[in-house]
Amino acid sequence: MADDIVINSLLAAIEAQPESLELRLHVAELLVRAERNQEAIPHLEAVLAKEPTNITALRLAVPVFRESGDLARSVAFEQILNALQMQSAQRLIESTPPPPEEPERLRMSYDGEQPGDSDDSATSKEFDFAMERPEIDLRDVKGLAEVKERINLSFLGPLRNPELRKLYGKSLKGGLLMYGPPGCGKTFIARAIAGELGARFLTVSFADVVDMWIGSSEKNLHALFESARRNNPCVIFIDEIDALGRKRNLMRHSAGSTLINQLLSELDGAQYNNEGVYIIGATNHPWDVDVALRRPGRLDRTILVLPPDAPARAEIIAANLEERPTQNIDANWIAKETDGFSGADMAHIVETASEFALADSIRTNKVRPIDMSDMKRALKQVRPTTGTWFETAKNHAIFSNEGGYYDDLLDYLKKKRMI
Ligand SMILES: Nc1ncnc2c1ncn2[C@@H]1O[C@H](COP(=O)(O)OP(=O)(O)OP(=O)(O)O)[C@@H](O)[C@H]1O
Ligand SMILES: [Mg+2]
Repeated sequence: MADDIVINSLLAAIEAQPESLELRLHVAELLVRAERNQEAIPHLEAVLAKEPTNITALRLAVPVFRESGDLARSVAFEQILNALQMQSAQRLIESTPPPPEEPERLRMSYDGEQPGDSDDSATSKEFDFAMERPEIDLRDVKGLAEVKERINLSFLGPLRNPELRKLYGKSLKGGLLMYGPPGCGKTFIARAIAGELGARFLTVSFADVVDMWIGSSEKNLHALFESARRNNPCVIFIDEIDALGRKRNLMRHSAGSTLINQLLSELDGAQYNNEGVYIIGATNHPWDVDVALRRPGRLDRTILVLPPDAPARAEIIAANLEERPTQNIDANWIAKETDGFSGADMAHIVETASEFALADSIRTNKVRPIDMSDMKRALKQVRPTTGTWFETAKNHAIFSNEGGYYDDLLDYLKKKRMI
């Protein structure tokens, strides 16, 4: 009854403004609700003639035309509606967050021979390094209490307490070398350290650049360090630092050793002021790291970064789920089932589970939260990735533990009954 009054006044308004699609859509909705479908038809037609992809009008039109016996149009509208819904779901799936602010970049050119190039085809190319300001800190690194304590005591503590440092005659020279299985947080920790220090973060992967640098290595490496010195405080993160050691052995030319000598002289800082420049190296193959790099004053503090234990795995799950819709997730249960999984593996489980819930939401056209069934299904698909690393590392730890270099690793292997 109340609807009739509104309908009548809307119809009167439409008389006065026949062009108003808004009024027509509104009255069509009320007419359908009042089971006066037939009367809704001219209004829906008017709306769809002007806006053929109006989703509200299409939703009303599908049943109204079907019931009026106009199957052809009902089906056509339904097809358009489905296509539109799939499109918007697709857009949702494909929508990527806006790209992060463009970090400062360091451009470099290199003139070098590519492996396999003939002598006269030397190339000159440019590549660049991103300089970022990480917004994470060590609290974002889950578990690894001992690693964090060591970093705090031997690295961050002295940095933050110059008076104490002087009192103990401790110099700031030297950097960290992190090693361990893939995906367990080496890069993450390095960024978190830069975050702790409010420092810029310059990352350079030697495996990528070592070949490219042949021929212009000294120049470029020096430019990299100079840029870090200008932008201090700055963490230079040298990933895959073993690539240098490996290459030095493999390369007959002097290029490899030129590069490593240059790195050593940049590190030693005898001729340069490295104040506020912190060097952190990382490797999965510590046995390939050139020993010269590990001497005192260089990357002299070696830290083993191990897979997360069960409480840390639960925390990584929780942290990764934080901004997603969830229901009844038992992170501790998942943590118990994932011995040997790396942090990256744990993040991968959450990603996979989210994909399942998302696919379901699209299929049913109804958003549903991620639940334990998704997590369990993901758990069946994601395999731990640290095992092979430990197999290789075991041999090095047992047979070449000079200077107790692998003591931490041996302790862990024993604790885990891997030896
Ligand atoms: N302890 C941890 N706490 C929180 N997140 C972690 C942890 N370990 C790993 N992760 C997650 O896994 C991702 C991969 O880790 P990261 O890239 O730091 O591993 P990595 O040790 O550098 O591996 P690689 O040897 O392959 O370079 C991180 O971005 C982070 O999301
Ligand atoms: Mg890494």
